[in-house]
Amino acid sequence: MSIIKTDVLIIGAGAAGMMCAAQSAQRGRHTQVIDHSKKLAEKIRISGGGRCNFTNMDIQPKNYLSENPHFCKSALKRYTNWDFISLISDYNITYHERDHGQLFCDDSAQQIIDMLQTECHKAGAEIRLNTKVEGVSKTEDGFLVMTDSDEIECAHLVIATGGLSIPKIGATNFGLKLAETMGLNVIHPRPALVPFTFDQETRDKLSGFQGIALEATVKVGKTEFREALLFTHKGISGPSVLQISSYWTPGQMVEINLAPDTDVFTLLKQTKLEQPKQGAQKVLSQILPKRLAQRLVEQSACAGNLADLSDKKLQTLATSINAWQLLPSGTEGYRTAEVMRGGVDTNELSSKTFESKKVPGLYFIGEVVDVTGHLGGYNFQWAWASGWCAGQFV
Ligand code: FDA
Repeated sequence: MSIIKTDVLIIGAGAAGMMCAAQSAQRGRHTQVIDHSKKLAEKIRISGGGRCNFTNMDIQPKNYLSENPHFCKSALKRYTNWDFISLISDYNITYHERDHGQLFCDDSAQQIIDMLQTECHKAGAEIRLNTKVEGVSKTEDGFLVMTDSDEIECAHLVIATGGLSIPKIGATNFGLKLAETMGLNVIHPRPALVPFTFDQETRDKLSGFQGIALEATVKVGKTEFREALLFTHKGISGPSVLQISSYWTPGQMVEINLAPDTDVFTLLKQTKLEQPKQGAQKVLSQILPKRLAQRLVEQSACAGNLADLSDKKLQTLATSINAWQLLPSGTEGYRTAEVMRGGVDTNELSSKTFESKKVPGLYFIGEVVDVTGHLGGYNFQWAWASGWCAGQFV
């Protein structure tokens, strides 16, 4: 087993790790990146349906969740979405904007991986895949990292091992465990940007809803998102649900407005006055998918002419559309979650350098840190920004 010496060792060749490596090597630091995966940056590859939603036109601190909402501000200011757009433009990677300012590659996410790999190679950073870390210890002037092939001595150790989502493609709790071993606090991790599941009773009530998609407002406490919602076999999904899942704690009710532009009770009452022989289903089919209108009317026992339905019944039906209360039994978990919420407590880190305050020379960047973005390119922007900033100091 050989001993390798390097200035900077980065564990995790994903979005943040590669960005950090390129920057560190550009500053003349001898930089190595190791990753246990066989393939580089799997999460970039599968992101955005293979087209990588790499950033957003409008990046604001309010798009990020953290125990300390101020922590992300400095990095997001120093390395912006425009910096990343400028970088991909240098590589002639073309892109397009979708709803909510989301930017995607025209061609493929692989272009982003290739670009980051080239940036690393050009600067002289070495990336080694298929390398398992077997132990990390603190030495007098840095760290000793034992791998299944070498021992690596480094002055600066960067942890860029990401979050816990999608273990199937290499996610591990390595970074969180190491932080704890080194005496750093970790904010309890949980799946975020993830579909909700329901218990069997609710699923039975929702049978027949599967596959229906519509724009809806989904609310937890005071936070709400208005985007697409999809009924699945297990529960609900779609962008509005993924977004709100990051704010949800088990046991909390979720309120859904299936017709956010319409006061349904007023609509039903008005139609009852003007066209008493009209059926509720027909009225609702003007604002909701037909199948959904039919199922909601059946569930509220509101079939028949509007004239025969009491206002109380109409109110119940309207509430099931404008303020539907659902109690998720849980989420689909890390198997499908796009990100992890929580992670290394930002109070343990410098927001300028990402270095641990307790363990000099140890850095945490990317998703392993307790900063979680909304859906829409915000998580990659955090990976680029935190990786770039740490790369200026390691
Ligand atoms: P990342 O996960 O990119 O990299 C971590 C690296 O560490 C991996 O290469 C892994 O193999 C390695 N590693 C882990 N444990 C290790 C160990 N013990 N030893 C060695 N190596 C180890 N975000 C966004 O902004 N836009 C999008 O379109 C999407 N789309 C998307 C789709 C899907 C399906 C998922 C699961 C996630 C997204 N995301 C996203 C989220 C985004 O992918 C994520 O936030 C970033 O990749 C995080 O970057 P990091 O570098 O922190 O971790």
